[in-house]
Amino acid sequence: MQQIQRIAAATVASVLAGKSLTALLENVWREHRDLSRGDRGAIQDLCFGSLRHLGRLRAVLDQLVSKPVAKPELQCLLVVALYQLEYTDAAPYAVVDHAVECASQIAGAQMKAFANAVLRNFQRNRETLLGKADASDEGRYSYPAWWIERLRSELPLEADSVLRAGNAHPPMTLRANRRRLSADAYLLQLASAGMQARRLPNDALQLAQPVPVDQLPGFATGEVSVQDAGAQEVASLLDVADGMRVLDACAAPGGKTAQILETGVADVLALDIDAARLRRVQSTLDRLGLTARLQCADAARLETWWDGQPFDRVLLDAPCSASGVVRRHPDIKWLRRPADIAGFAAQQGQLLDALWKVVARSGKLLYVTCSIFREENQEGIDRFVARQPDARILGGMPGREGLLLPNDEHDGFYYALLQKS
Ligand SMILES: C[S@@+](CC[C@H](N)C(=O)[O-])C[C@H]1O[C@@H](n2cnc3c(N)ncnc32)[C@H](O)[C@@H]1O
Repeated sequence: MQQIQRIAAATVASVLAGKSLTALLENVWREHRDLSRGDRGAIQDLCFGSLRHLGRLRAVLDQLVSKPVAKPELQCLLVVALYQLEYTDAAPYAVVDHAVECASQIAGAQMKAFANAVLRNFQRNRETLLGKADASDEGRYSYPAWWIERLRSELPLEADSVLRAGNAHPPMTLRANRRRLSADAYLLQLASAGMQARRLPNDALQLAQPVPVDQLPGFATGEVSVQDAGAQEVASLLDVADGMRVLDACAAPGGKTAQILETGVADVLALDIDAARLRRVQSTLDRLGLTARLQCADAARLETWWDGQPFDRVLLDAPCSASGVVRRHPDIKWLRRPADIAGFAAQQGQLLDALWKVVARSGKLLYVTCSIFREENQEGIDRFVARQPDARILGGMPGREGLLLPNDEHDGFYYALLQKS
């Protein structure tokens, strides 16, 4: 457990220094090739859990120390151990013993007694400490104060449930490859493999228990993909007919490109600015037996990639704050700063303006974000329509005017469908 705590503490400390958890974990797997599947799962759980509940755990730790812990890795070790004590089944004596050893490795033998005192004190006074932590918003919800305030002002009725949904374990949801089989047929395959699942209204299949993808029947041979139910609205909204020219402007890693291609025979150009991420689109399409033209380009710089032929359909799955998917990426709530949201909104506006030029007359552009902040969603679209007299917003969006709030079925998304008149 000691090595696992140590790696988790270093990883959480690096997140708090501004790095992405996904990238950090990829590094950990590369550097520690000897870790078993179980160890990897444990490290992942400690990092995800500690970040999910970071506000509450820090509010507890603050009460247990007379002055802030100076060394970030030591502070994060204590957060990780508190997470284990409060939220996992790990044997408390083992959590404390190993954390004490780890503290000595991180900050010297004199820290053993300190770590021991902090953790034992938590065990003795748990209820009082948690009660005080829960008295503050950041402690109760485990989000930065600005995030909580923003949601409360934009979604006064839903803020509490949205904040709580963002701290839940996300469901694992599948999309059957319609070219190969129906959702019902795949549901039967899951049942024969002993996996329980339910079919959601849009044919997404939600597993009762997440499993590693290589255990999904037919995954390697392209019968199924993993995709949140909220993301599975794209193909039906875009309404692509066979033979249409379609642009997927921000395509990587290719979940939505594949979804579009599975529903018909379209001529799809998939762009992404990130060459490494674009390679993931290719492997997704290869696995599913689908074909698209892929190009690494900045979608906003038309002169670098556009041949002048308009597109019948454009999907702009824009770079965004990802505030709707924090339960899958709990580092996001601690990495984002309030000013980032305006930055994303400006970038989204530029992409919208540029890509509107490539939409054919009567053609449609579907704008999507996995953000739940209004500035990146409705406000951005209202500003865009005010600048573009030939753009009109089409109705019939999912959720409340296109806003899907995270719940037990899906993550948070925003959809707006625009038609060129
Ligand atoms: C939300 S993700 C797309 C997810 C993808 N549509 C899917 O469903 O798998 C946004 C993507 O936009 C790409 N991106 C950001 N700015 C871009 C730009 N100016 N031009 C093209 N791609 C861009 C990022 O590299 C990232 O892969």
